[in-house]
Amino acid sequence: MPRRIASVVLITAAALLTFSPVGTAQQRPLPAAWPYGLPPVPPGEYPPQAPPILPPKEFVPPPPPAKSPDELVQAEGSEFRFTRQQIGYRHGPADWFPQDHPEMPEIVAKGKNPEVRACAMCHLPNGRGRPENAPIQGLPYDYIVQQLRDFQRGLRQSADPRKDNTSEMEQIAKALTDEEIVQSARYFSSMKWTKYIRVVEADTIPKMQLRGHIFWPDPAGGTEPIGNRIVETPEDPAQAQLRNPRSGWIAYVPPGSVERGRVLATTGGNGRTLVCSTCHGPGLRGVGPVPDIAGRSPSYMARQLWDFKLGTRRTTMSALMKPVVEKLTEQDIVDLIAYTTSLEP
Ligand code: HEC
Ligand code: HEC
Repeated sequence: MPRRIASVVLITAAALLTFSPVGTAQQRPLPAAWPYGLPPVPPGEYPPQAPPILPPKEFVPPPPPAKSPDELVQAEGSEFRFTRQQIGYRHGPADWFPQDHPEMPEIVAKGKNPEVRACAMCHLPNGRGRPENAPIQGLPYDYIVQQLRDFQRGLRQSADPRKDNTSEMEQIAKALTDEEIVQSARYFSSMKWTKYIRVVEADTIPKMQLRGHIFWPDPAGGTEPIGNRIVETPEDPAQAQLRNPRSGWIAYVPPGSVERGRVLATTGGNGRTLVCSTCHGPGLRGVGPVPDIAGRSPSYMARQLWDFKLGTRRTTMSALMKPVVEKLTEQDIVDLIAYTTSLEP
């Protein structure tokens, strides 16, 4: 289908379908701890709302931290050395591999004061993202613009009220000008998505600790059962701590999940869901404004299925995903995303 016709068909279909009402934070049932990267909530209890993220009134950003030669660190493969403060500097984080991406617009490299952290801080300079945020490298231009507008209009929130970085993303979008939306969408869509996640089916996985919404292998060792989860963890925790954008991730998934997901995604499972490629295109590589979902972060993707299902992602185009997720069980979501993650982009 030509791109423009595909867009018109999809937008019309989205307009025809109705939106579902959103439950309040108190009434919303939550899936098990995963995929939000937060500790489990006992059955029947609901997590408290994270405090709203508001910029301090008279915020003056600290100057970029100075280099002190004795504490310089280096990411594997980079010719540069930075301090840990420089790596985490919210208005201009370390860029280990400038040769891996086009020149960043100001809003991507530095953000703006006081409220907007650099996009590169969370999504990495090349947009590959991390499990606790989103992979935005190589998404369609129109799709990125639409999502930023939907965030601005308050149509995209996390189903887990504790997930404060999604609220921060909403605040950031609300502070962007039209020009900054265009610049950042142009920048991230100009690159091709390069997969850096490896799917491993396993019954037993290394024992994990949750820190900063990410699963890190417990330095003390040990193992734990995977259960019905996807556990995304760095290939090399030391490199991930340095935010090395070339250092990849492992997605541990339950045995058999990739094949179960493939069957469900390609047949619709007798009406349990819809065939994904109808809208996401052959190989789930995207069609027009419909995003590609092959080989992208499973933590992020699974959260989106839950957010569509629980109605907190009620974006302009989300009505199209409603019949896809409505009847899915926790296991279906794990299986589908194990499958989409295993695909090559
Ligand atoms: C505080 C860290 C942070 C910063 C800084 C940040 N984002 Fe995000 N972004 C997120 C999180 C978290 C999500 C949503 C993840 C979720 O809800 O699961 C997200 C989601 C997105 C999405 C949706 C991706 C998709 O596939 O639908 C886009 C687009 C996006 N961000 C663009 C940007 C741009 C452009 C900037 C800079 C102007 C930016 N972000 C800055 C954390 C951040
Ligand atoms: C009827 C069309 C349609 C079908 C079928 C469909 N999708 Fe989607 N999907 C969309 C649209 C449109 C979006 C973008 C929604 C938005 O703008 O918020 C989307 C978004 C998504 C996202 C979020 C992507 C991101 O970057 O945030 C995931 C994950 C997803 N779909 C998975 C699936 C899976 C898995 C299947 C098959 C089981 C499927 N979709 C079938 C239309 C569809």
